[in-house]
Amino acid sequence: MKILVIGRGGREHAILWSLKRSDKVKKLYCAPGNAGTAQIAENVDIGEFEFDKLVQFSLDNAIDLVVVGPDDPLAAGIVDVFEAAKVPVYGPRKNAAEIEGSKIFMKNLLKKYSIPTAKYETFTDYEAALAYLREQPVPIVIKADGLAAGKGVTVCFTREQAEDALRETMVSKSFGAAGDKVVIEEFLEGQEMSILAFVDGETVRPMSAAQDHKPVFDGDKGPNTGGMGTYSPLPHIPQSIIEESIETIIKPTAKAMVAEGRPFRGVLFAGLMITKDGPKTIEFNARFGDPETQVVLPRLQTELVDIFLASINGRLGEIEISWSDEAAVCVILASGGYPGSYGKGFPIKGLDDVGDVLVFHAGTAEKDGEIVTSGGRVLGVVGRGTGIAEARAKAYEAANRIQFEGKQNRTDIAAKALVQA
Ligand code: AMP
Ligand code: GLY
Repeated sequence: MKILVIGRGGREHAILWSLKRSDKVKKLYCAPGNAGTAQIAENVDIGEFEFDKLVQFSLDNAIDLVVVGPDDPLAAGIVDVFEAAKVPVYGPRKNAAEIEGSKIFMKNLLKKYSIPTAKYETFTDYEAALAYLREQPVPIVIKADGLAAGKGVTVCFTREQAEDALRETMVSKSFGAAGDKVVIEEFLEGQEMSILAFVDGETVRPMSAAQDHKPVFDGDKGPNTGGMGTYSPLPHIPQSIIEESIETIIKPTAKAMVAEGRPFRGVLFAGLMITKDGPKTIEFNARFGDPETQVVLPRLQTELVDIFLASINGRLGEIEISWSDEAAVCVILASGGYPGSYGKGFPIKGLDDVGDVLVFHAGTAEKDGEIVTSGGRVLGVVGRGTGIAEARAKAYEAANRIQFEGKQNRTDIAAKALVQA
């Protein structure tokens, strides 16, 4: 089989790495890819939004399967375009990807089908939003409606912070048109977890749970990022809570999407808060998480390509999906300044001296035969071991050997799991 993966991040590198483990996969392409994907696939210089060129490339090269990594092309309908051209593609159509593309759509869906989530109101008018906000207790959460690279959410602990966040989103338009509409949402207290699932209509096949670390600094300080590190499984979270989340949130949501005439096919990713009243939905994504994928797929024992094929052939319910018991911890190495502005083009040293870990590339490029930084999140270093402690020690040991100017990383990824395990 020949497979084209669309995207350029660590998630896509991990998807390619996982696909490559199958003997069925003869050739991998990545558009546009990065310096890491170039080591296991052929990078194709076509951007994620050049739909016509991507379709033409797939037809010209007799691609058997296209896998779409990132959220924005999914929200823009890339799957519908491939389907119209009769190219087999894995991912949700535009009308299903809206579960991530619009927080208001998602919240209204959950409310309509009584699926647990934080209480909320939505606004298109700044004055009305401000008046409502002034009547609410703090902490409170302000969310831009549309996609904002994981940065459109502000958890506000003071009134001043809340009013600033609302003004930034709706008046200063810090997140562009994503902030034309906002959700103002009740603050949920508890432990967070991510559950990703392979979904085809009402068929839900959950993956092993993971936990992300969104804020840029240790101790969950500083602004939110796309994710600074992950681990899986979650030894400190009882299996009963994971099952409750699947039964009360993920399965009913898949069913609701079918009932709405928007059947979801692809990876449905639930961001959840385990509150004292049980698990509640924070967000849904319509794709693999980044960097959740980097710790979940290395633990997948079933061939990923078989799951994709079963799904596009309507047989997802029939396939056996198994997970290894080993733990995985991913530490993201980011450019200095991220998630704000940062420099690029710094040579990365030490990549050949990392030992027994997986290094998934995100913002990297090749320049004059050397691998250099080219994005905010640069690398994801994944350690694996018999438990979180071993996986974590391996990840940090390798992460510390890799150097580039301005490198920053959190030093407390998965620390919570050690204390509470
Ligand atoms: P999101 O982009 O929707 O995943 O939100 C980013 C982060 O903000 C989440 O990972 C949570 O840590 C936090 N967050 C979002 N909504 C809430 C909420 N209602 N209560 C508490 N924290 C939240
Ligand atoms: N790591 C969170 C996300 O992919 O949205």
